[in-house]
Amino acid sequence: MELIYLGAEAELWKDVWLGIPCVRKRRIAKTYRHPELDLKIRATRLKNEARMLRKVRSAVRTPHVLDMDTKNFEIVLEWVDGDKVRNLLYKGKMVKDLGRRMGKAVKALHELEIIHNDLTTSNFLWDGENLWLIDFGLAERSSRLEDKATDLVVFKRMLKASHWDVFSEVWNAFLEGYNAGDEILKKIEEIEKRAKYMR
Ligand SMILES: Nc1ncnc2c1ncn2[C@@H]1O[C@H](COP(=O)(O)OP(=O)(O)OP(=O)(O)O)[C@@H](O)[C@H]1O
Ligand SMILES: [Mg+2]
Repeated sequence: MELIYLGAEAELWKDVWLGIPCVRKRRIAKTYRHPELDLKIRATRLKNEARMLRKVRSAVRTPHVLDMDTKNFEIVLEWVDGDKVRNLLYKGKMVKDLGRRMGKAVKALHELEIIHNDLTTSNFLWDGENLWLIDFGLAERSSRLEDKATDLVVFKRMLKASHWDVFSEVWNAFLEGYNAGDEILKKIEEIEKRAKYMR
């Protein structure tokens, strides 16, 4: 197995599962958390990720869940042969197109009444033909406008910080792909104002 990613919460290994290229995502212990609480959080996020990945398949492209090992806090996912959108944007590649596609994907997700809760350009993968969305550990069901708008505010903030050079281009294309109407745009503004006031 080859380690492909080491994050704060998880390590990801490239592997083969019954002849199929896959990734093993293992949620690692956080020593600053109370041990019992830590086990609970890891188990919840693991199960939530598997459940959500299956649930959203009709709306957005996500890797198939091949296997799950709750004892080791591991989920086995179909390998996506692609680039992180983050890296493509760093190279200035397909900026508008990717923005539009990300917006369209998030809109489809929200129409299913699912909030991703961790929208970043590292959680979108581009395989040369299709856009994939991953990392559903924090996703939840909600039909509230406030929750959908918050999903977008988090993404916008991340975009501004990590992709300041192409921010406007990506964000405008994203809103176009999302087909954002007055209602959600107003809500985004309201949340941003509230955040500013609280700072
Ligand atoms: N199915 C997959 N195929 C190929 N690469 C993947 C796949 N899943 C994840 N990756 C790669 O591993 C990186 C980290 O994965 P992921 O976003 O799921 O973990 P994470 O950000 O640590 O998750 P969490 O926020 O739940 O702790 C991704 O940005 C991507 O580059
Ligand atoms: Mg991630």
